[in-house]
Amino acid sequence: MPEGSFDACMADPPYGDTSLDWDNPVKGWIPAVARVLKPVASIWVFGSIRFLAKTFAEMEEHGFRYSQDIVWKKQNGTGFHADRFRRVHEHAVLFYRGAWGDVYHQPQYTRDAIARTVRRKSRPTHTGHIEAGHYVSEDGGPRLMTSVLEVRNEHGRAIHPTQKPLELLAPLIRYSVPPGGSFVVPFGGSGSDLVVARAEGLDAVACELVPGHAQRAAQRLAADAPLFAEV
Ligand SMILES: C[S@@+](CC[C@H](N)C(=O)[O-])C[C@H]1O[C@@H](n2cnc3c(N)ncnc32)[C@H](O)[C@@H]1O
Repeated sequence: MPEGSFDACMADPPYGDTSLDWDNPVKGWIPAVARVLKPVASIWVFGSIRFLAKTFAEMEEHGFRYSQDIVWKKQNGTGFHADRFRRVHEHAVLFYRGAWGDVYHQPQYTRDAIARTVRRKSRPTHTGHIEAGHYVSEDGGPRLMTSVLEVRNEHGRAIHPTQKPLELLAPLIRYSVPPGGSFVVPFGGSGSDLVVARAEGLDAVACELVPGHAQRAAQRLAADAPLFAEV
């Protein structure tokens, strides 16, 4: 793929945490993605903390800084360790390259505000901000989406063992990919990111190692993309 092609990347790499055939950590995907992204761009990476912790240094090496992370809360857990907290979440971390003000990021909203007026207190002068401000919200109005996204996983209807729900991917993609923009998916899996791309009118390219997964993703895209609910 030509250098500097894409606005963003949605990466859901093998974490190396399971015994699935394809679940082997992949070396070199960060520089490969960094090359095909535009100079100002962002990368969402899904993973466990164990996996993500290892990506920070390599991201920095390629000019990507940490921006924020979200938690995906599922209705049930994966894996079973009777001596630990029952794990019902995963993380996604956003990295960016360029000045944050130049990086496309469109805040996402839910429409479940409750009516209230919030007055912000004047801050002490030593912070350098002394102005008071307030905002008013209305019942059912827009409310900034929280960093914990509660979305049911695809158990029972997935075509891939780690298929991400469309309702989870959509707000992240809308946040980071400009209208009419493009993104790359280095680990395509079931093609969920591509389904969202099509629904949003975005361009996307995915790579997938396992021919069977790629074939099923292509069939899924060839069929009418399923409609999905707004989060
Ligand atoms: C965690 S899954 C991605 C799931 C995807 N987000 C979805 O919603 O269906 C990781 C995928 O990466 C694929 N994969 C593993 N190594 C790869 C490689 N070197 N290049 C491309 N794909 C690879 C695996 O076969 C697997 O389908």
